[in-house]
This record gives sequence, C-alpha cells and structure tokens, in this order.
Amino acid sequence: MRIVRGVLATLALTVAAAAMACGGSSAPPAGGAGGTGTATPAPGAAAPSGGPKQQPYANLAQIMRALPFPSSNIIFDTQSHDPGAKKEAKEGGAGAGASATFANIYTGWPLVEHSALALAETANLIMIPGRKCQNGKPVPLDQPDFQKAAQGLVDAGLAAYKAAQSKNQEQMVEVSNTVAEACAACHEVYRDTPTDADRCTPKAKQQRCRLLTLDSEWTNQHVASLLRVGGCAAEQHRAP
Ligand code: HEC
Repeated sequence: MRIVRGVLATLALTVAAAAMACGGSSAPPAGGAGGTGTATPAPGAAAPSGGPKQQPYANLAQIMRALPFPSSNIIFDTQSHDPGAKKEAKEGGAGAGASATFANIYTGWPLVEHSALALAETANLIMIPGRKCQNGKPVPLDQPDFQKAAQGLVDAGLAAYKAAQSKNQEQMVEVSNTVAEACAACHEVYRDTPTDADRCTPKAKQQRCRLLTLDSEWTNQHVASLLRVGGCAAEQHRAP
C-alpha cells in the first residue's frame, strides 16, 4: 500500500508541475528579481535563456517523498518480485509487487529502468539553488559531503538503470544495496538528526550548536549570543 500511494504522489506532482509550467503565470523566482542575492550557481550547464525559470516549488522533504521514495521502492521490490513475470489479473492488494500496480500503464522491467533514472534525475532537483528544507533552512548545497552524496545518488541511479537493463534479479539485489547506501550517506548527516531543527545543518555545526546548548554554566544571554555568532538555529537554544 505504501508503494501505491507513492506512485500516485509522483503522478500528481508531475501533473501539477506541468500545469504550473504551462499556466503562463510569471510569478517571480524565489530568489528575488535582482539575481544578485545568495543563490549559488547551478553546477553543470548554464540555464537556457527562454522558458520557465529553473526554481524550486517544493521543499526538500516533499521532493523526497514524491520521487526517490516511490522510485527506490520499485527498485527494492524487484528483489522479491520478478518484474518480468506474468501478472495476475488483480491489481494492488496485499503482497502485490510494485510492478503489478498500474499493470496496464508502464510495467515490468521498463518501469524499473524509469525508476532508476528518476533517482539520478532527483539529484538535479536536489541541487537547484534556492530550495528550502522543511524546517526552513536552505538545502546545504555548498557542503562538500552533501554534494558528494548527491553525486552518489546519480551513480546509484545509473547503476540501477544498468542492472534493470540486464533484467537480472541478482544484480537488482546488489544494486538495491547501492541505492540504500546512497540514501543513507546523506540522511545520516542531514536528515536523521536528534531534532528536526538540526536537519540540513553541517555536522560540525550540529555538534557545536548542541554543545553550546548543553553547557548549563552559561547564562541564557551568553548562549543566545554565541548561537547567533555561530549561525546556530534559535530553536537549538531550547533543544534539550
Ligand atoms: C544528498 C542528500 C540526500 C540524498 C542522496 C537522499 N536524501 Fe532523502 N532526504 C535528505 C534530507 C536532507 C531530508 C530532510 C528534508 C527536509 O526535512 O526537508 C530527506 C528526507 C527524505 C524523506 C522524507 C522523510 C521525512 O522525515 O519526511 C524521504 C522519504 C527520503 N528522504 C527518501 C530518500 C531516498 C529513498 C533516497 C535514496 C534513493 C534519498 N532520500 C536520498 C537528503 C537526501
């Protein structure tokens, strides 16, 4: 059932994004009209001059739930369900494989290929300047370990694409580990933090800010000013 919901979310997001892109409304980009703000330039090719401006519409958690979550589940599912196997007539239901869902749309190994490519493409979306995390912090695009983890997602997605093309379930088992590790490499630092306020914060800063809040010798005022100078989130002041 989780997989069914995820796939539906992806389809809904695609439609919504297409509607936004084609709607002709010219809302100003999140970074402001001046263009000289804090936005970091995108890696790779320069943006084309025409068409809708590249800009974020969702926070990072929403992107994660819409794209890599359902896509990786379709990949993980191949470990126990052969995407090439003949399907039973019924759709969904307990125990049905992700590839059996929406059986008459995109199916079988091609669906696995598309999901693998969606993982690699997710890295493009992750790296768009100006996106925020759910807690309001900017996605830490400037952190080398974050950049490396985003590249890791590209590599894992492309490896999964290759494995899917081989239609070999053993290779899918192996590449499922690669994908899970690519997710974990980033989540361990930037998502699975003691509090949500610590998400999307470089590890060194997480530790420094927490040390500050834990030192009971200091007066609140002293801590508050150190938090300010150190760029720590205000909520971290209240965190246990
Ligand atoms: C480069 C870093 C990075 C990579 C790679 C990455 N994630 Fe995430 N992910 C994050 C961050 C950071 C958050 C928290 C976002 C927020 O709070 O806005 C997150 C949140 C999520 C969430 C939402 C969870 C929640 O608590 O709301 C899901 C689901 C998720 N990721 C799935 C995945 C999967 C599956 C993969 C691998 C296929 C993956 N992510 C790869 C950084 C990453």
